[in-house]
Amino acid sequence: MAITINSEKKLFTLNTKRTSYQMHVDRYGYLLHLYYGRKTEGDMDFLLTFQDRGFSGNPYEAEGDRTYSMDFLPQEFPYLGNGDYRRVLFKVADGNGTVDCDLRYAGYLLMDGKYTIPGLPSVYADDTNRDTGKDAQTLIITLVDELLKLKVELYYGVLPRLDIITRAVRIENYGTVPFTLEKAQSACLDFVTGDYDAITFYGRHAMERNMQRSHVGHGTLTIGSTRGTSSHQYNPVLLLVDHMATEDYGHCYGMSFVYSGGFKGEIEKDQYNQIRMQLGLHDELLAYPLNPGEVFWAPEVVMSYSSKGMARLSQNFQRCTRRHICRGKYRDAVRPVLINSWEACYFNFTGDKLVELARGAKELGVEMLVMDDGWFGRRNDDMRGLGDWKVNEEKMGCSLGELVSRINETGLKFGIWMEPEMVNEDSDLYREHPDWAMTIPGRHPVLGRNQLILDFSRKEVVDAIYDQVSGILRSANIEYLKWDFNRSIFNVYSHAGLTQGQVLYDYVLGLYDFLERLNRDFPDMLIEGCSGGGGRFDMGMLYYTPQIWCSDNTDAIDRLRIQYGTSFVYPVSSVGAHVSAVPNEQTGRTVALSTRGLVAMGGTFGYELDPAKLSDAEKDQIRQQILDFKKYAHLITHGLYYRLSNPFSDGIAAWEMFAEDQSEALISVVCLEVHGNMTVNYVRLRGLRKDCFYRDEATGKEYPANALMQIGLPVPVEMGEYRSYRWHFRLVKKAELSAAE
Ligand code: GLA
Repeated sequence: MAITINSEKKLFTLNTKRTSYQMHVDRYGYLLHLYYGRKTEGDMDFLLTFQDRGFSGNPYEAEGDRTYSMDFLPQEFPYLGNGDYRRVLFKVADGNGTVDCDLRYAGYLLMDGKYTIPGLPSVYADDTNRDTGKDAQTLIITLVDELLKLKVELYYGVLPRLDIITRAVRIENYGTVPFTLEKAQSACLDFVTGDYDAITFYGRHAMERNMQRSHVGHGTLTIGSTRGTSSHQYNPVLLLVDHMATEDYGHCYGMSFVYSGGFKGEIEKDQYNQIRMQLGLHDELLAYPLNPGEVFWAPEVVMSYSSKGMARLSQNFQRCTRRHICRGKYRDAVRPVLINSWEACYFNFTGDKLVELARGAKELGVEMLVMDDGWFGRRNDDMRGLGDWKVNEEKMGCSLGELVSRINETGLKFGIWMEPEMVNEDSDLYREHPDWAMTIPGRHPVLGRNQLILDFSRKEVVDAIYDQVSGILRSANIEYLKWDFNRSIFNVYSHAGLTQGQVLYDYVLGLYDFLERLNRDFPDMLIEGCSGGGGRFDMGMLYYTPQIWCSDNTDAIDRLRIQYGTSFVYPVSSVGAHVSAVPNEQTGRTVALSTRGLVAMGGTFGYELDPAKLSDAEKDQIRQQILDFKKYAHLITHGLYYRLSNPFSDGIAAWEMFAEDQSEALISVVCLEVHGNMTVNYVRLRGLRKDCFYRDEATGKEYPANALMQIGLPVPVEMGEYRSYRWHFRLVKKAELSAAE
């Protein structure tokens, strides 16, 4: 059993293949955290220590026992009101504005299978999936504040074979008086000791998910977003790793938020050198009223632990995301190689131009054309048109149906770009329904890319836009949708009268409702998420869109860093990546086509350029790239991923995609530095089967796995910047080798 309970001791243990998690209810009814780490047995309450601590309050029932204080004991659900001065997960205000509560244990429920959350995405345990089988379990622990009549249910989902534990919180007002949630986060981990580094992923538009590793000192490290999206600026992920941890060594913990709106992550080292790590909704714009009988869900956090370094932690998250977050037909399918019109023509295209792009791309082996921004309303620039999801027939020279047929006749599938959550002031939709946009009465709105946000917290807005969008998608043979979101949310206000503190959360519920309907009504359509590239790259979106445009930056060298940061949690199959023209549109850098292709194969792979501008030699090279992609696509779609270098500090960027059964591995290397009389870089491979030989498919040469993993492969020393190399190794069993000798 994944979950074991000792009812007498009120001791709860969650076990996965390699990890254990334990908590207990103490004599006063507080739920204390005991342990998360390498799998073990026994009662870990010996880890708790009790000392007389000055200025740390004691519960009334402790009757003056100054060695008992919530100010230093490790907890499962810290809240404001019990004497804990550290960061807390939960704050609730009663009708008089008093912010206080007292939550005590009231019972538990154990269920087979993994819980779901109404209206919110979450990890699912697929019975048909060999990874989880039927062994997933759910534990619900109930805490109650009897004065407020507030029930808090802590949900724990255990997916044993994935080494994944999930958490979510259901909050209920079972009384007769309303109260307001001022902070409602989902998960925390308390560490009574340890010397740790925090790893976070910061960035900006066109330069997302840079990895930052910093030693955890006293005080609080806070990351977050109040932008209404998970954001380019910080990804909703926290990692806490041993100060000495490497890819293969050390205790590593991770948390990832399954939510696409604002979030806050905090890591605090307290006065006793204990560390608290917590993740969930941002509290800054939250003041959620909970009336009698109402329920609120704090979205899911996915947690994992590895005793063997960061590589395994990442693989746990990647595997979980790919097979237990992503859904639908494309979860397991190799994605079509696409060509996108954006960097090829921006707003400047006609129907004929798209057909020309499609014909040129078809000759190269491309399988789908994506018509990006500029096809609807009066959209010839980014000043107008959003909200008017009707094809501009004058510009395109034909109806959408005719255009799609013409593209299909070239042999390509057809995909389309939309930004359904947005509206321009210069649009028919806005002229008709100005109150559907989020604006504050009496004030000019703050614009972002000249556009406003539609109020998706209102069902009638979601319904109306859904009718438009689904009407377009049904009107022709459209097989792919790029769902974009190109500004942050300010001026949070719903003209429907919702209180400000609930709009942002309800907005995200509206978005998820829309995306759920799309998944239901268009099960064969591939949806790619996007928010100015990777501004909403999170497990929440991946539940609805199995891939996300990773960044508006298509420069192969910048992408190495962006994709490196992304790999800590997200699988390669979710990373939208294209080869674009040189000099690059974002950096002006010129990188060889071979290197651009290799980097885009660290993702879903496609092109974003005009084939008519390519030389014959380049066309030949692209044909070969597409054949290569097809050859390796199973490793990209289903394989595991290893980082083999750190492109922020090493002279090379190197990564490995390999089959879980260790039968083959694809090694990619890009040289980031070139110098006179170069020293040699060796790339140490990982995850090969030891004592075996691997054959390089290009040369037929056989290499001993042990030496490849211990010393590594020497990277050729050649002249020229940003050279790249690839090796495809296949396992040759040792027995076969000796027989052949
Ligand atoms: C965003 C996307 C781009 C492109 C443009 C179109 O920036 O990330 O790929 O679709 O919008 O306006």
